[in-house]
Amino acid sequence: MALTNFADTVAVITGGASGIGLATAKALHAKGAHVVLADSNSRGLQQAEEQVRQSTTEAQGKVVSMTTDVTNEQQVQALMQKAVETFGRLDLVVASAGIGRGGSIDEFTAFEMQTMMNINFMGIYHCVRAALPTMRQQQAGHFVFLSSVAGKLGVAFLTGYCASKWAVRGFSSALRVELYGTGIDVTTVYPAWVETPMVHQEKMEHLNVRAMLTADQVAAEILQAVRENRRDLTLAPNPDIALLLEIMKSDPDKAEQLAGEAFRRQMAQLSAQQSK
Ligand SMILES: NC(=O)c1ccc[n+]([C@@H]2O[C@H](COP(=O)([O-])OP(=O)(O)OC[C@H]3O[C@@H](n4cnc5c(N)ncnc54)[C@H](O)[C@@H]3O)[C@@H](O)[C@H]2O)c1
Repeated sequence: MALTNFADTVAVITGGASGIGLATAKALHAKGAHVVLADSNSRGLQQAEEQVRQSTTEAQGKVVSMTTDVTNEQQVQALMQKAVETFGRLDLVVASAGIGRGGSIDEFTAFEMQTMMNINFMGIYHCVRAALPTMRQQQAGHFVFLSSVAGKLGVAFLTGYCASKWAVRGFSSALRVELYGTGIDVTTVYPAWVETPMVHQEKMEHLNVRAMLTADQVAAEILQAVRENRRDLTLAPNPDIALLLEIMKSDPDKAEQLAGEAFRRQMAQLSAQQSK
């Protein structure tokens, strides 16, 4: 059954110290939800907890936080346990913890690839395993997983990120099939570039980052997608990305060819500039 009213519901949000996770926490809190914030960045988490609390004065829900590394199975188990012990149930898990790193495959090490998969994919798997027993008992619950348009497209210099986000997409699809009829639902979110700290870190050059979404917009769309129990929330205001997504649906060969040609042109321009 769709979660149409967030008042008095219990939401766990990973990656809650920043960006989309923090914005979603604020939006849920404003609608009366009890919010459990989780992040590996303890200092950021403390500040985020305060920000969420102060974001809406009339909000009824409580806010708690717990430092959690989503790659650590025991810590994620403890997180879900804390939510249930504190509030007695678990209605919504928003898995937003993630990292983005760009770079050529020639320089993308095995360690970087494993770290990417561990945080972006295994983090979500741990959340599901830890929250599912409670949701099964309740015969109700909703997961929101942050994938990316990079979970539907191939993007040069984002091989690791794409792999992790396609993994989230495949996992979501299989999980929806397996949980069909149990009252437990899954929404997978596929945004294009969003204006958050993630898009301002190193190694993002050559990626044509043009953020046309804010974290608050994504958060509002997430709440609406949960209310409507949508399986897929794709947010791609960038015309070039929207076009590629459309072509990808009917002709993946063509989409890869067009993206590959554009990438080669970009690299050629860059090397021409550097040789001047
Ligand atoms: N910003 C974008 O352009 C964009 C686009 C599409 C998808 N996404 C996805 O949305 C999600 C949120 O990204 P964001 O833009 O808000 O980034 P962000 O960097 O603002 O927030 C990510 C948060 O995850 C936390 N985190 C990282 N590793 C962790 C770990 N091991 N355990 C717990 N927390 C950890 C960070 O400390 C940070 O607070 C990510 O999964 C990202 O891949 C972002």
